Parts: sequence; C-alpha cells; structure tokens
Amino acid sequence: MKILLIGSGGREHALAWGLARSQKLSKLYVAPGNAGTNQLGENIPIGTENLSDLVQFARREQIDLTVVGPEAPIVAGIRDLFEREHLRIVAPTQKASFLEGSKVQAKAFMSRHGIPTARHASFESFEDAKRFARTMPPPIVIKADGLAAGKGVAIAQTHAEAEQILSEFMIAQKFGAASQRVVIEEFLVGKEFSLFVASDGVSWKFLGTAQDYKKLLDGDRGPNTGGMGSISPVPWLTERMLDETIQKIVEPTFAALAKENLSYEGILYFGLIWTERGPFVLEYNVRFGDPETQVLVPRFDFDLVELYRALAERRLKDFETKLAPRSAVCVVLASGGYPEHYEKGFFIEGLEKLTDPNVLVFHAGTALKDNKVITAGGRVLNVVGLGASIAEARQRAYTAIGQLSFPKMHYRRDIAA
Ligand code: AMP
Ligand code: GLY
Repeated sequence: MKILLIGSGGREHALAWGLARSQKLSKLYVAPGNAGTNQLGENIPIGTENLSDLVQFARREQIDLTVVGPEAPIVAGIRDLFEREHLRIVAPTQKASFLEGSKVQAKAFMSRHGIPTARHASFESFEDAKRFARTMPPPIVIKADGLAAGKGVAIAQTHAEAEQILSEFMIAQKFGAASQRVVIEEFLVGKEFSLFVASDGVSWKFLGTAQDYKKLLDGDRGPNTGGMGSISPVPWLTERMLDETIQKIVEPTFAALAKENLSYEGILYFGLIWTERGPFVLEYNVRFGDPETQVLVPRFDFDLVELYRALAERRLKDFETKLAPRSAVCVVLASGGYPEHYEKGFFIEGLEKLTDPNVLVFHAGTALKDNKVITAGGRVLNVVGLGASIAEARQRAYTAIGQLSFPKMHYRRDIAA
C-alpha cells in the first residue's frame, strides 16, 4: 500500500513509525513531515492547508490511502474533497467535524443527547455573554467557538477577568472569526484524561487512554503549552472507571451520532475529566492527540496499516485493536522560551548515542542542515520510554534524555513522577 500521511509534528512521526512497521506498507509519503518522518518515508513539501495540492498529489502518485494527523484540514473538509475525487482517505467528514470545529455545536450536541458535560451557555453577543458571566461563580471557563490551535480556552478567576477575556475574544477577536462566538461554562473539579476510539461509521473500537501534561513547568505551573509530556495507560483509571466512561460517554456519543445520521469515520478523541460525579466530557477532538499519540502507537499490538484499511473499508467490526501490556512515558524536549519567543536552528547532540530498544525518539520540530538534525520549532523532540510499568518507562525516557542536548533545551523533570 502507498500511504500519504498529512502533518508535521511528533504525532505524525509516531504514526509514521507505526505505519512503517507494517509489512503492508510499500511506500510512505508525509506532507510536509519533519526530519524524523523523512527517515521512514519521503517528505513532500505541501502544507496541510493546501488541500487542492494534496488531492493532486494523491491522484498523481496513485496513493492507496491518505491518513490525516491534524484537525485543521479535517475541519476544512479534506475528507469530502478526497472522496469527490474517489481517493481513499480516513478522516471524518466536514459535517461530522463540528465535534471539534465548533464548541458551540459540540456542546449543543452533548446537551441534546444527555452526554455528561459541564453546564454551559453559548453567546454571539458580548453584552449577553458579559451579563451571563456575572451570574456565574468563579472560576469561569470561557471557550472560543472555533479552532484556536489549543489556545481557545481561558479560565477566569474573577468577574473582572472574565469580562476582559470576553472582550479579547469577542470584540478584539483574538482568534478571528473563531472567537466571535463563545461558550461559557462551569468549572469542573477532577482529574483529566483522554480516551481514543477508532470508528468506521458502523462500529467503533477502543484504542487506549492517555494523559497529557499541558503546563510548561514542573508541578503543573507556568503557561499552557501544546503539551510537555504524556503517559499511557492512565495509571489511576481502574477497569471499573474505564467501563463507566465507555457506558456513560463513548456509547451514548456513538448512539447520538447515529441518531443524527452522522456517520463518524476516523479517530475520535474524548477529552475527559473524572469528577466526584463520574466522567464528564471537556471536549471532543476529531483526530489523535499530540503528544498522546506518541505513547499510544508504541502500545498498539496490531498492524496500524491494517487498522486504517479496516476503517476505510468499513471492516472495523472484525478488527481486533489489542494493546500490549506495556506502559509508555513521553517527555517533550522544548526550545528555551517556548511557548513564547524562542530561537531555532541549533544542532541537536547525542541522537546517535541512543541504543536502548525501549526508547523511541519522535521528532516534533526539527529540520536537517548539512545532514545533521537541528531544532526547528518550539517543541523539538519527544522522547518515549517503554516498560512493564510507568515507573520503568519513565526511568528509560529520562536516562535517554541525559544523552541529548541542544542550547537552551527545556523539559519537565516530573512527567509520570
Ligand atoms: P478543552 O480544549 O475544551 O479541552 O480545554 C482545555 C483545557 O481547559 C482542558 O484540558 C482543561 O484543563 C481546561 N478546561 C476546559 N473546560 C473545563 C471545565 N469545564 N472545567 C475545568 N477545566 C476545564
Ligand atoms: N494533547 C491535546 C491535543 O492533542 O489536543
């Protein structure tokens, strides 16, 4: 099979690694990819926003199957575009992508179907939003409706702060049209985790749980980031809690999709919080997570190409998505200064010294210069340790990190601690 993978981060390197393990893969293209994906396939310089060039490429190269990493091309309708050209692709339709593309619509969907989520109200008018926020006890959660690269959620500790955030979102339009509408919701207290499912529109299969570390600094301090680490499975989530989550959230979500005649085909990410009243949905994403994929794929005890084929051919019902009984811990090595201003272009030392077969290094923001790997983004490398336990996996990841360096490298020391 000739596969085209769309995206360029650590998630895509992990997916490329999974795909490349399959005997069924004959050729892998990654658009645009990074220095890591280039070792497993061929990078193609087409951006993820350039849908028509991606279609053209898939047609010209007679790609058998296209796999999509990030949300933006999905919400922009890549699935529909490929389908119109009779090109096989695994991704939800634009119609189904509201689950991530519009927080207003996703919340309305959950409310219509009684799926547990924070109580909320949606607003198009700044004045109405302001008035409503005043009636809420802080902390108050404010979410931009549309895609905002993971930055569209703000938590206000006071009414004054809420007003200021609403003004930034709705009047100054911090995220453009994406923040013209907002959701205001109650703050839920609990432990966050995520759950991943594959669906072919007829049936769905569980792909595992993970937890990510969003804050920049140890002890969950500092600003939010795209993710500084992740672990899988979620160690505190018992079998009974997982069953309850599937019964209260996952099954009702797919029943609701069916009821609304929405055929969901692709990966569905449930962003969840375990509260004293059980599991609640914080958000849906219409794709794998980053950096959660980096700890999920190494645990897959099945052929990833075959999974995507089963999804494309609607044969998921007979496909077994087994997970290996091993744990994975991912630590993100970031550029100093990230998520604000940072420098790039530094050589990365030590990659060739890593020999532990239980350590995987996925590239997130790298490039090649004179055939050497240099930093090219805020999040640079994802170091993944594998082991029989989270503790063992953690030990391996941090031992490997001891061999790696680049100027101003920053990482958290407390992932999976
Ligand atoms: P989201 O993009 O909707 O997952 O929100 C990003 C982050 O904001 C989540 O991972 C939570 O840490 C936090 N968050 C979102 N909604 C709530 C809520 N209702 N209560 C508490 N924290 C929330
Ligand atoms: N790790 C969060 C996300 O992928 O959205």
